[in-house]
Amino acid sequence: MITTRFVDVVVAAGHGQVERPAHLAVHIAGRGPLALLVHGFPLDHRMWLDVLHGPLAERRTLCAVDLRGHGDSPYQGDAAHTMARFADDLAAVVRALGDEPVDLAGLSMGGYVAFAFAARHPDLLRSLVLTNTRASADNDVQRQGREVSIAQVVARGRAAVVEAMLPKLLAPGADALLHARLRTMIEGTPTETIVADQRGLQQRADWCDALHGITAPTLVIAGEHDQLTPVADAEVMATGIPGARLEVIAGTAHMTPMERPDVWADAVATLWQ
Ligand code: MLT
Repeated sequence: MITTRFVDVVVAAGHGQVERPAHLAVHIAGRGPLALLVHGFPLDHRMWLDVLHGPLAERRTLCAVDLRGHGDSPYQGDAAHTMARFADDLAAVVRALGDEPVDLAGLSMGGYVAFAFAARHPDLLRSLVLTNTRASADNDVQRQGREVSIAQVVARGRAAVVEAMLPKLLAPGADALLHARLRTMIEGTPTETIVADQRGLQQRADWCDALHGITAPTLVIAGEHDQLTPVADAEVMATGIPGARLEVIAGTAHMTPMERPDVWADAVATLWQ
C-alpha cells in the first residue's frame, strides 16, 4: 500500500534566492531503511509506481517525493527551481522522516538533484542510483534550446512539451499505456513549474570534475536507446565515480523504471543488499 505524507520545508537556505517555503508530498511504500526516489522533468512520483509496488519495497521504505511544483507538491512561485533548492528540500524530507542517511535514486533531472544532494548533504547520503542522467551541465546550444522550449510552453501550453518530449522518452514499440501515463503527468504539471524547472536546468552545475569525490556506493543505470541521456553519458559517470557499476538495460530508452521496472529493480537490489 502507498501512503502519502506531507513535509513542510520552512527555509531552503543558501542558494542566493528569495526563501520560499514548500509543502512537499512524499509517497511511501515498503519497510526498512529509507530510500528516496526522485523523478525527472516534468514528471512526478507516478513515474515510480511500478517500483513502489515491486520487490524493492521488501528491502527499503521507498519514498517517492514530488519535487516542489510537481505532482501533489504545490508550485511556490519560484522563478527558477535550482538543483540546489530541490536538494535542500530533499534534505528537509530526510530530516522529517528519520534523520538517518538514505539511499537516493534519481532519474534524469532527479539525477542532477542527486549530485547536488551528494555535494550539499553528504552526511545524509548512504548510496546513489543515477539512472538515465548525466554529470555534465548544459552547453550553450542546450541552454538556448531551453529558451525555445520555455517560449513554446508559455505560448502554446503543455501540449508543446508533450509533443517535444514524449517521442524521446520511450523505446520504439513501448506499450501505448506507458505513453498515456507520461502524457498525463506532463499535462498535469503547471506551466509555471515547467518554466522554473527549465530555468534551474539551464543554471545547473557541471559535476564531471567532481565525480572522483563521490564516496557513496553508486550504481549507474542507462537505457540502451536513450536519446536524452545516452549510454555514453552513463559511461562518463561510471568511470569517474570510484567503484561505480554500470548497468545498461536492453530495449529501453529514457524511462527505464517504467519500461522495465523488473530489470531496474534487480539491478538496484545488487546495491541495496
Ligand atoms: C529529464 O528527463 O529530467 C530531462 O530530460 C532532463 C533535461 O532536460 O536535461
